[in-house]
Amino acid sequence: MITGKPLFTTQQIEARVKELAAEITRDYRGKELIAIAILKGAFMFFSDLVKYIKVPLSVDFITCSSYVNDSTTGEVKIHCESREDIKGKHVLLVEDIADTGITLNYVKEHLMQKDPASLKIVAFLDKRERRAVQIPIDYTGFVIENKFVVGYGLDYDNKYRNLPYIAIFKKSL
Ligand code: IMP
Ligand code: MG
Repeated sequence: MITGKPLFTTQQIEARVKELAAEITRDYRGKELIAIAILKGAFMFFSDLVKYIKVPLSVDFITCSSYVNDSTTGEVKIHCESREDIKGKHVLLVEDIADTGITLNYVKEHLMQKDPASLKIVAFLDKRERRAVQIPIDYTGFVIENKFVVGYGLDYDNKYRNLPYIAIFKKSL
């Protein structure tokens, strides 16, 4: 069940996403970008973020999972390949949350083999204290403590993704 007040409200999220997009726009001025979302979790953040990035941009999607309910299996599966040719292109990988970092590390390694000109990572949330593999996150929405959160694309058992805010989730007793 969802506990208490939102951790981040719709208004807070919107403001932060616009700031991130402005930073990304500044950093990529004069360049073209391929933004790749890691599905499913990043879908809402991704669609908000790309609306406010003001450089020429194409989008692509990778479907990936490592979680069963609320614990990581440690094994990342890519179900669906990125279809764009990213060789020589600037890639922005968009993730809902960096937790152990295993997913991002895996996907990054996978994409780096395709020889992009550059690859940066934006994560909406970052549970930094949980990191098991060191992976640099170039843009972070919010750093959070080690609580399981849902909403704004993030799920528990594939539910709550449609909440327009971030809430802390607790299993009911
Ligand atoms: P990592 O590989 O451990 O970094 O896990 C990243 C993935 O786990 C994310 O893409 C999310 O789908 C999922 N995840 C990690 N923490 C949470 C959470 O608090 N709520 C919902 N999903 C989470
Ligand atoms: Mg998930």
